Amino acid sequence: MAKTATLTIDGKAYEFPIIKGTDGNDAIDITGLRKKTGMITLDYGFGNTGSCASSISFMDGERGILRYRGIPIEQLAEQSSFIETSFLLITGELPTREELIGFSMMLNDHSLVHEDMRHFFERYPKGAHPMGILASMVNALRAFYPELPQRSEHEEIRITFARLLSKLRTLAAMSFRISGGLPVVYPSVHLSYCANFLNMMFDSTVRPYVIDEDVVQALNVFWILHADHEQNCSASAVRLVGSARVNLYAAISAGISALWGPLHGGANQAVVEMLQAMYDSGGDPAPFIARAKDKKDPFRLMGFGHSIYKNYDPRGKIMKKMCDRVLTKLERHDPLLDIAMKLEEVALKDSYFIDNRLYPNVDFYSGIILRALGIPLDMFTVMFAIGRLPGWISQWKESTEDPRGKLHRPRQLYCGPPERDYVPVEKRNRTTKVI
Ligand code: ACO
Repeated sequence: MAKTATLTIDGKAYEFPIIKGTDGNDAIDITGLRKKTGMITLDYGFGNTGSCASSISFMDGERGILRYRGIPIEQLAEQSSFIETSFLLITGELPTREELIGFSMMLNDHSLVHEDMRHFFERYPKGAHPMGILASMVNALRAFYPELPQRSEHEEIRITFARLLSKLRTLAAMSFRISGGLPVVYPSVHLSYCANFLNMMFDSTVRPYVIDEDVVQALNVFWILHADHEQNCSASAVRLVGSARVNLYAAISAGISALWGPLHGGANQAVVEMLQAMYDSGGDPAPFIARAKDKKDPFRLMGFGHSIYKNYDPRGKIMKKMCDRVLTKLERHDPLLDIAMKLEEVALKDSYFIDNRLYPNVDFYSGIILRALGIPLDMFTVMFAIGRLPGWISQWKESTEDPRGKLHRPRQLYCGPPERDYVPVEKRNRTTKVI
């Protein structure tokens, strides 16, 4: 018999079904709550609220587990490529050899961006953050690539996915080149997705970029680890905006804007800035740890803690190993890595971090890898966005295909003034300023 949960209000019992998820991930279905009881739930930050049923990624914060479509993240990082993982996330299955070739060719075919889009870059003020530029450029893509009525809807959606995946990468590299006054490097049919990105970023007629397969592999792993993370802030933004049936470009642009925040994707940049500040002040993490523990100080130890992981973030573990591997391969020593390891060691022995179950997250070591690859600091969150794109596409696809999908419209608990009368301006004698 299906299990139910009983809620009692003023002595009256209400039954709600319990929906079974994979691996004991069960939920109380409160869809009928307001109809039955006249009440709503209140859940700041939605920490206890499932906004949808999803079969894309699974995470268990207590055990430090992350799987995409059932496959552990460790196996994908070891054996897959970013493009193969993107295919897996979007379609639900690993591609056959033919499908993988076809998908790669499709990405290649759509990798150029309309030449007129180059002029946009010239008009942004110097110093504009690339995440703001990226969000607006993705929205602009819709103007350049409207729906093609002669194609079936399915075909149109497939092409839009391919356009986004390949053009976001091209736009990111273009923004770097143009902001540095460098000529744009176009994508090449001869290079893989990741190698192409590196080449578009760093190739020059006077100093040709030499592709290093280990560096390409590091980028693959970096993007695989960022590819999806169930209903995180930016994925939820994509689903929420997408629920209004906006076009996919607009929904992805919303996801990019959400990712920009320092509590979300912007943390990878904030971590390196924090490590640099520690280095500049002599390399002692103690004052920073003291500030993070001080509840009167808004400072937080960046790259530490997670809304769901109450254990080591599994992506952080892989990132740390990859960090060692890349620096060894490139024969580079980064003093910020020494500081990061020292900080981790001290924090993990500190009762504040132990009691609050705060461990390094994916962003803690990722910035050091990006530095080693030559990616400038303000592009770090852009790198995250490219990696998260297949996840956003998958979340949007799943939500728009779900027959139970609705316009997202949360309720609120109103706690403002009760009904009161309008006071004409000449009779208002308030002395305190409200703004
Ligand atoms: N430094 C200091 N204190 C922290 C930190 C931190 N990095 N993270 C959490 N805490 C504190 C919280 O303030 C909370 O204290 P309180 O109970 O006295 O209010 C306590 O530890 C428990 O926090 P949680 O409930 O586990 O975390 P929460 O859900 O509030 O926040 C978040 C999660 C936003 C990620 C937080 O850990 C944080 O700000 N970390 C730093 C920013 C960061 O690295 N973000 C990237 C996250 S990964 C990603 O988005 C890709």
